[in-house]
Amino acid sequence: MSRYEFPERFLWGVATSAYQVEGSPLADGAGPSNWHRFCRQPGRILNGDTGDTACDHYRRFREDVALMKALGLSAYRFSIAWSRIFPEGKGRTNWRGIAHYQALVETLLEHGIRPMATLHHWDLPAALEDLGGWANRDSAGWFADYAHTVIRALGNEIDLWATLNEPWVIMDAGYVSGVHPPGHRSLKDAPWVTHNLLRAHALAVQAFRADGRGQIGLVVNLEPKYALTDSRDDRAAAERAHAYMNRQYLDPVLHGAYPDELAEISALHWPSFESEDLRLIQEPIDYLGINYYTRAVVRHDPSGGPLEVTAVPQHGVEHTEMGWEVYPQGLKDVLAWVKARYGDIPLYITENGAAFADPEGENGRIDDTRRIAYYRSHLRALHEAIAQGVDVRGYFAWSLLDNFEWTYGYARRFGLVQVDPLTQRRIPKASAGFYAEVAQTNGAVLDRDY
Ligand code: FCB
Repeated sequence: MSRYEFPERFLWGVATSAYQVEGSPLADGAGPSNWHRFCRQPGRILNGDTGDTACDHYRRFREDVALMKALGLSAYRFSIAWSRIFPEGKGRTNWRGIAHYQALVETLLEHGIRPMATLHHWDLPAALEDLGGWANRDSAGWFADYAHTVIRALGNEIDLWATLNEPWVIMDAGYVSGVHPPGHRSLKDAPWVTHNLLRAHALAVQAFRADGRGQIGLVVNLEPKYALTDSRDDRAAAERAHAYMNRQYLDPVLHGAYPDELAEISALHWPSFESEDLRLIQEPIDYLGINYYTRAVVRHDPSGGPLEVTAVPQHGVEHTEMGWEVYPQGLKDVLAWVKARYGDIPLYITENGAAFADPEGENGRIDDTRRIAYYRSHLRALHEAIAQGVDVRGYFAWSLLDNFEWTYGYARRFGLVQVDPLTQRRIPKASAGFYAEVAQTNGAVLDRDY
């Protein structure tokens, strides 16, 4: 018996998102998204890349599902492009957009692969961004209407839903640092963006309760923060960073209140929120999706922005091409923290993976040993967390394919499978073979050094 057997019926999947893999952004009556437009602004994306073609998954999804099947995977987490369903963001439904996802889901079910649909993975209809995007209080209602339409159309076939992917990134990258659309830098809007995202999430959960079946949850990115020293200042700094990134979304949803630290950080910009809104945001969810990539070591630094925090780079340890430290212990720590703070809510690891520059394929084989080592160490850490009583029901590798990595364009590769940019040929890397063995042995193979 292997030490690394996972629970029965554990889901082994891969994750992607619409704008990152689909291509054909305006096909079949779709409207432009904020990312479609953002990519056209000079200097926004490395090498001027766009998602215009991406992995051509919109047209090649059958081939990709067959690939998942060949790898022995049991689940696929994908996202639905809002602007394919509502080209103007609201109002008129584009049924051809729905038909596309119906075909995808049908194909998955035919292959015995369970669909997990994320309703929003960052690609907001451009028309809604023009109305203020998530800073507009009405955004919650727009999202609820969109969610309701999709759930009514696909709710018989899909029984695993996620509302938003990483609301923290939508807020921080879109409205504070401005590196994602809409490219704003406004500390004043930030708390409202968070609040509207959470209201949107809760209204979508209510729409699901009315017409959906199965489970719905929220996907957050969690990055544990470790104080550089034991000094009181550094520990308080780590707590602020933790509140800002990790507790900002989970505390209101699961405990009904924003962390006190946020009011300190935002100072005069912190609004007083309606208690009715806070009640709404606590709408019960069925599971929590956790995206985990890395950790941060931080120290107190009065010049470190409103948080007064600076991240301290770690030397002599491995980093991925994103500059992210490889730190599997962080996954264990963060899962233990979620259980301790929020109790026994079912969890899925909805993303985990690594970008590395892949070696040239010799004899057609891409030996991405560093990616394999990353997966192996994180899956072992995950198994230890489960053995210690954390209720994790499934794991989704990010990502099936090398794809459009947002502001880095195609220059960062997270795929288990390489995609030839000219021919769109899919070439499974060694890591795809490794992950297939993990899935097929329900983790048992993790015992072995690969
Ligand atoms: C996450 C995103 C996902 C992908 C990975 C690398 O933050 O959810 O789309 O870009 O990072």
